[in-house]
Amino acid sequence: MPKPGLTTGHAPFVEEARSRGDLYITQPYDLYSQENHEAWRRLFARMQPRWEQFANDRFLHGVEALALPADRVPRLDDVNRRLEPLTGFQAKPVSGYVPGFLFFDCLRRREFPTTITIRDKDHMDYLPEPDIFHDVAGHVPMHTDRAFADVLVRFGDCAHTAAQLTAEIRDQRERERRLTSIMRAMSRFFWFTVEFGLMRGGPLGVCAYGSGLLSSYGELQHAIESDAVQRYPLQMEWAINQGAEIDHYQPILFIVDSFEHLFELVGRFEQWMRAGKLDNVAPGLPEIQEGDLRSFMEAEHLVMA
Ligand SMILES: [Fe+2]
Repeated sequence: MPKPGLTTGHAPFVEEARSRGDLYITQPYDLYSQENHEAWRRLFARMQPRWEQFANDRFLHGVEALALPADRVPRLDDVNRRLEPLTGFQAKPVSGYVPGFLFFDCLRRREFPTTITIRDKDHMDYLPEPDIFHDVAGHVPMHTDRAFADVLVRFGDCAHTAAQLTAEIRDQRERERRLTSIMRAMSRFFWFTVEFGLMRGGPLGVCAYGSGLLSSYGELQHAIESDAVQRYPLQMEWAINQGAEIDHYQPILFIVDSFEHLFELVGRFEQWMRAGKLDNVAPGLPEIQEGDLRSFMEAEHLVMA
């Protein structure tokens, strides 16, 4: 009998976990089908030369340090065995979308919620949701770098601060309004850095460290070379007020000098939050989902202890 497979949108193992309400799961490696391994092989083979051209060198070191296999879906246990001694980070398998606060709280504990399914091998560019190629080939190599790993932990701290600050607001509607604004600022800032960030340096003068770029064959080159993309030094006041559009190539990208620079900016983000500067950011994308909002509201008991 053919294996059921772990294909995005067609993975009975994952659907069952979701229907039981299990968010944190295992990676049932034997369930990957030949097609699943073939999808990874194709994705990896076409990405590799583009990484060499456009990725920042810490990412390239990361791919090497993790010894990501070229010909089959990686085992997360193997990845973690190499990753953990470097920065304490681990890839943690999940059954699907992790609500906002829980996601950032995982980062704070140096756990990265990781999708285990992989896109259909005949739909290489169509990504309805993240898959293991985006998460493990796009994100996880960056987690081998200490300075970058510290940036993620600082984002986790920011989520705690957001939950704490807004837990003190007695008027529920005002609390939700402010939390929504802060969450919008935070997801934009994360989007324009961790997902789509550019960095000064490399042979072309600018290179990519954002995982959305590093896992996209078409967009990686477009982000660095296309004249249609506006690229500017990262100004936080701009990034937190700029709508983050998800269904096409990014028309605006922001450049940091280094991960130390980015770490400083996340610290400033937290100061702005405390000062109330994030309570009224520009409306627009992303829409803040009810489940994400609730995850921050319910974190009250975790952060007030
Ligand atoms: Fe991502």
